[in-house]
Amino acid sequence: MHRFGERRPGRPGPAGADRTRVPSRRRTLGGAALAAAAGGLARCGPLSGRAAAQRVLQGTPPGGGDQMERASGAADGAPAGPDQQEAAPGLKELAAPLGIWIGAAVTVAPLAGEPAYGEAVRRECSVVTPENEMKWGPIHPGRDRYDFARADAIVDFARAAGIAVHGHTLVWHNQNPAWLTTGAVAPGELEGLLREHIAAVVGRYAGRVAAWDVVNEALADDGTLRASLWAQRLGPGYLAAAYRAAHEADPQARLLYNDYGAEGLTRKGDAQYRLLAGLLAQGVPLHGVGFQVHVTAAGVPAEPLARNLERLAALGLELYVTEMDVRLPTPPSDEALAAQAAVYRSVLDVCLAQPACKGFQTWGIADRHSWIPGRYPGFGAALPLDERYAPKPAHRALGEALARAAAGRQSGSMLPSRRCG
Ligand code: XIL
Repeated sequence: MHRFGERRPGRPGPAGADRTRVPSRRRTLGGAALAAAAGGLARCGPLSGRAAAQRVLQGTPPGGGDQMERASGAADGAPAGPDQQEAAPGLKELAAPLGIWIGAAVTVAPLAGEPAYGEAVRRECSVVTPENEMKWGPIHPGRDRYDFARADAIVDFARAAGIAVHGHTLVWHNQNPAWLTTGAVAPGELEGLLREHIAAVVGRYAGRVAAWDVVNEALADDGTLRASLWAQRLGPGYLAAAYRAAHEADPQARLLYNDYGAEGLTRKGDAQYRLLAGLLAQGVPLHGVGFQVHVTAAGVPAEPLARNLERLAALGLELYVTEMDVRLPTPPSDEALAAQAAVYRSVLDVCLAQPACKGFQTWGIADRHSWIPGRYPGFGAALPLDERYAPKPAHRALGEALARAAAGRQSGSMLPSRRCG
């Protein structure tokens, strides 16, 4: 059974175990807890996953997947029922033989209120990320008050469904509570508060949250250290302090750095590489890097992405696509949906070709619940499932990428081996 972030036999695995100073013994101590959280992936290498991959490859319509969408037959206005979607195997099933984690950001309201939402998450995801519920504002609303109810609801749902949880996020410049940002905190208190917060949140979910985006978006668009509350008041040392506190609170959790716009060999991509290499050189317990990948149909150039992943993997870091969405002007044309599918496929292909790439998540499960229309007016339709939870061409493309990788590995092709442990 593969556990989140654990080295798999037959492949390089996290070569940076030494650099990150996490003794390998400790990495597996939480096995029982993580295995419980990851029950959904415990079927690593199941016949069902392989059979599903064959179905996808055999049923691939020439030139694209929109037949799949039509075949789902969902009635206008109503979420598609499970029967209507039987033609499309869940991505979770297709990813299982590869030992890669696949999932989406989820939010508590539709999880509680819309059965079709939970169905889609159970079908598609082996890992979920709470979209907002673990950020400072929601989880730590008063200086001496934590509110874990919404985060607990997601963690409980995930455990019951055998889905792992990716925690997001412990240090960010956005969605912080007013009590923290508006000056009531005296200078000199902030570092203690940060440590306390991390100890409380990571400690509460120790053994139940497999990985954390410890620091989110520390870099500005030009690659300099973002002038956040943290950087301004604590200096650049806040990053190392945060990772150390998180590691202390849960020595088994995979600790990631997460950012956007650093996918390629750009100024920000280079700055991210230097930042992470510097942290590792200081012995900071940093295990991986998350690429948000919030993009348009213009996509992400594959070659620089692959080279960036390669150099980060050479540092011993695990790699994760953490928040992908591909926003389109709404309503989207068939051509735009096909272009979107190609962008999703290309990023997943790069991830699957890189042995250190361990996870692929979208920022939301379906267009019905996505941050894009609110954040980018005029855009939407950014996710692989539509407003009615029916699969779009992007879903088909992701499924095909997974199925091809599974078939390639099974037949011993040149793709890197990614056998399950
Ligand atoms: C977004 C959420 O999706 C929205 O609901 C919220 O209003 C703002 O934050 N990068 C991140 C995420 O790391 O936390 C952001 O999530 C999207 C961009």
